[in-house]
Amino acid sequence: MVTIISSLSCLTHLPKPLYTLLKPFKPRPQKPNFYSLIFSPKSLSTLSAHKYGDPLSYKQTTNHDLVILGIETSCDDTAAAVVRSNGDILSQVVSSQGDLLAKYGGVSPKMAEEAHSQVIDQVVQEALDKAKLIESDLSAVAVTIGPGLSLCLRVGVQKARKLAASYSLPIVNVHHMEAHALVARLTEREVQFPFIALLISGGHNILILARELGQYLQLGTTIDDAIGEAYDKTAKWLGLELRRSGGLAIEELARKGDAGSIKFKVPMKHHKDCNFSYAGLKTQVRLAIESKNIDAETPSSSASIEDQSSRADIAASFQRVAVLHLEEKCGRAIEWALEMEPSIKHLVVSGGVASNQYVRDRLDQVAKKKGLQLVCPPPSLCTDNGVMVAWTGIEHFRNGRFDPPPPLNELEDARLDLRPRWPLGEEYARGKSEARSLRTARMHPSLTSMIQASQRQEQT
Ligand code: KG4
Ligand code: ZN
Repeated sequence: MVTIISSLSCLTHLPKPLYTLLKPFKPRPQKPNFYSLIFSPKSLSTLSAHKYGDPLSYKQTTNHDLVILGIETSCDDTAAAVVRSNGDILSQVVSSQGDLLAKYGGVSPKMAEEAHSQVIDQVVQEALDKAKLIESDLSAVAVTIGPGLSLCLRVGVQKARKLAASYSLPIVNVHHMEAHALVARLTEREVQFPFIALLISGGHNILILARELGQYLQLGTTIDDAIGEAYDKTAKWLGLELRRSGGLAIEELARKGDAGSIKFKVPMKHHKDCNFSYAGLKTQVRLAIESKNIDAETPSSSASIEDQSSRADIAASFQRVAVLHLEEKCGRAIEWALEMEPSIKHLVVSGGVASNQYVRDRLDQVAKKKGLQLVCPPPSLCTDNGVMVAWTGIEHFRNGRFDPPPPLNELEDARLDLRPRWPLGEEYARGKSEARSLRTARMHPSLTSMIQASQRQEQT
């Protein structure tokens, strides 16, 4: 079932969108456009330099009102939202696959793809209806093209391209992790570049220095698992209810436990870098669960009092150490970033795990000690959502980075530009980890390197 999470403001009158102000446009290409469809080393200008009409008239209209539809299907949430360039969220719709998650104990790409396909039309329609708009009122469509599960990304990208082709709308290809970071600039207008971001989700654990829009330096990342994966597995092994997310289940159970009862080791204590590792902590947790004879098949609610209290102690002890690891690496990343950019004022923490109150409280202390202000989007904008995609679309569109409307005759099975493994920023030399370099096969060049390459191309 589709859940409307919120519709924060209502639209009574919409000024003419930018796109209509820019008409007449270049004629649409009749052949599939290689920039958008097929990844090749030359396709650097996706998300880069397509400008419609006269660039000057574009610049003169950049302050006009934009209304962008954002579509997100990179993992197990089908989400869409309509956002205005003044920051008004006109609608937000999320359909979550909680039942599948509970049934299979994790995300199964094929099932997730099917679930996205079943609801995508309805989710997008509800987002438009809630915003009291029709497709032709939109200025552009923004869609997540990576990183994520290819099968799932494809559903959102196909929907976005069909809609954009039918209504001659430009399209903005969005990086999922950039969207997690930039949505903080929607909710807290004082967050200016440069800032630091810790992005923590089910598949990613990255620390970045955000210098400008699209210019990110990766200070650290995980060499194996992300913290969200550790939360999810711990919840599964403890027999918790996964429907609303394993992370939330652990957060709630941890409140009843003693965080000092089990002495898990903090990962990577002796690595003086900003990288993360959660695989070892997962193993420690699994062994602790086995040693207490906890049976995941017995739901926590029907376990004995003693068993329930052991589960709570494990949840609390795990959470304490998992977050201590974040605190240590984040503290170091702030020091590194301030050496490079002393004007930084904000630490942004976003991604699904950032909706956790314990995580927020602990990282607030870290930020304060270093003289920074912590900014976390509200929980519904930390977990996957369409608002962050629409907002990132607005930020890039305003900077002239978008693709022309796809051709109407684009085939259903066209090779779409999907980027399942797509780093956000360039690696900071001090933060490089040899362990991780083994895992770089079949990765796209980072978003930042692609933008930089297209800027160089523009200058020549
Ligand atoms: O960003 P997100 O919604 O999807 C991905 O991009 O992965 O993050 C999902 C992750 C899951 O691992 C989920 O368990 C975790 O965020 N999560 C939480 C909480 N809510 C969601 N982790 C800890 N505490 C929470 N309250
Ligand atoms: Zn995410």
